[in-house]
Amino acid sequence: MKKQPRISVIGVGYVGLCTAVGLASKGYQVLASDIDAEKIAKINKGIPTFHEPGLQEKLTESITKGNLKGLVNAIDRAILETELTYVAVGTPSKPDGSIDLQYIESAAVSIGKALKLKDAYHVTIIKSTVVPGTTQNSVKPILERESKKKCGKDFGLCMNPEFLRQGSAFQDTLNADRVVIGSYDKQSGDKLEDLYKEFYSPKVPPIIRTTLSTAELIKYASNAMLATKISFINTIANICEKIPRADVKVVATAMGLDKRIGPLFLDAGLGYGGSCFPKDVKALIACSEQFGYIPELLNSTENVNKKQPLKAIDFCKKHLKVLEGKKIAILGLAFKPDTDDMREARVIPIINNLLSEGAQVIAYDPVATSMAKTIFKDSICYANSVTDCLKKADCCILVTEWPEFKKLTPDDFIKNMKQPILIDGRRIYEPKEFSKKLKFTAIGLGQ
Ligand code: UGA
Repeated sequence: MKKQPRISVIGVGYVGLCTAVGLASKGYQVLASDIDAEKIAKINKGIPTFHEPGLQEKLTESITKGNLKGLVNAIDRAILETELTYVAVGTPSKPDGSIDLQYIESAAVSIGKALKLKDAYHVTIIKSTVVPGTTQNSVKPILERESKKKCGKDFGLCMNPEFLRQGSAFQDTLNADRVVIGSYDKQSGDKLEDLYKEFYSPKVPPIIRTTLSTAELIKYASNAMLATKISFINTIANICEKIPRADVKVVATAMGLDKRIGPLFLDAGLGYGGSCFPKDVKALIACSEQFGYIPELLNSTENVNKKQPLKAIDFCKKHLKVLEGKKIAILGLAFKPDTDDMREARVIPIINNLLSEGAQVIAYDPVATSMAKTIFKDSICYANSVTDCLKKADCCILVTEWPEFKKLTPDDFIKNMKQPILIDGRRIYEPKEFSKKLKFTAIGLGQ
């Protein structure tokens, strides 16, 4: 039987941990290295450092069986004791929108130093989202400089983007739509392709082999397309609001039946948030401008998204005239349901605007309250339940479409609020039912 390659993963955030546990759960021997000792201690006890359905069970199993081991800052060991290394460290944004490569570069320095000590051919795989040209122009020279070896001859280099969604990242790891392998040299691409063929057997998804830069761009192009789809439908929603009796939900459903358009990512709302779309659209714009091309479409995607959350404030003002002293209830803080992540959450500009207008804000979220406390401190109140949040409120803004909010009826708002005014920022309520009983305004609904 063919010997399975041993694998290491550098950086155990969302992507790194899902990749490490995915491989370990299929029997591969995996070493995971991170600079954060606390994270590694938890992982070695079988405790994930974030909430992701299905991950906990497989992590515990992998640790117990000895297939996965966490190491603190041990890139040298990770390289020497395995054949392939994934790099999944963070690539945050700089203030100008371009990406900050410091973690990628420092990982590359350590990998290069370890490669110097290794005789056998080793494959390094960049999984972090990096702008086109980074693997070839930044990572490769560092690896060659530090190892004093030649890329493509003594060691291999691949770029293999991820397409994981928070909330289903582990399931997405086990069931990919497609695998993209950019490789500097054919040998490293072949090794990675063999690994995925074995990993996904017998249901191997389409595997696309390409250059390092094309692989990098595929990731950005995919996220920019999805973000543009959202800004597009939000634009249609804003047009619908001007047209009596028009409804963006019906428009989106009908459009989605056209196979060329498809039904997904056409939910109008208060805009997209999270750690990926905002950052990746900005980075692609910055990268494109560096190459001398102004990507007008992407600038518009970004501008529409910047303005979209402020519609909630306009709606509030339409009903209440002045916001000073008014109590505004916010349902939902996380950037989307099933996560406590609030990075670039649309609720942040909404709450900041309400506060600057002198409103009092009370917010409820099933899981993101502790995260919100680190952002808003004591400038807002935090409710323990929907009822608690709605009590004596002048207006309610639904920001995140958590399942428990979908169950609310007009009476839940009427019996608790001072004035039953509801702004549905995610189109989860039936307009006919709600507008009959309370003052109801929803994104993309012509009055
Ligand atoms: C996104 C992509 O969907 C993944 O494929 C990608 O791998 C990931 O970014 C990444 O780059 O790592 P994620 O950020 O987890 O995943 O979230 P999504 O489920 O895509 O949602 C992003 C935002 O768009 C949320 O704020 C959501 O509320 C909003 N959205 C989504 C809409 O406003 N309308 C829609 O129709 C869909």
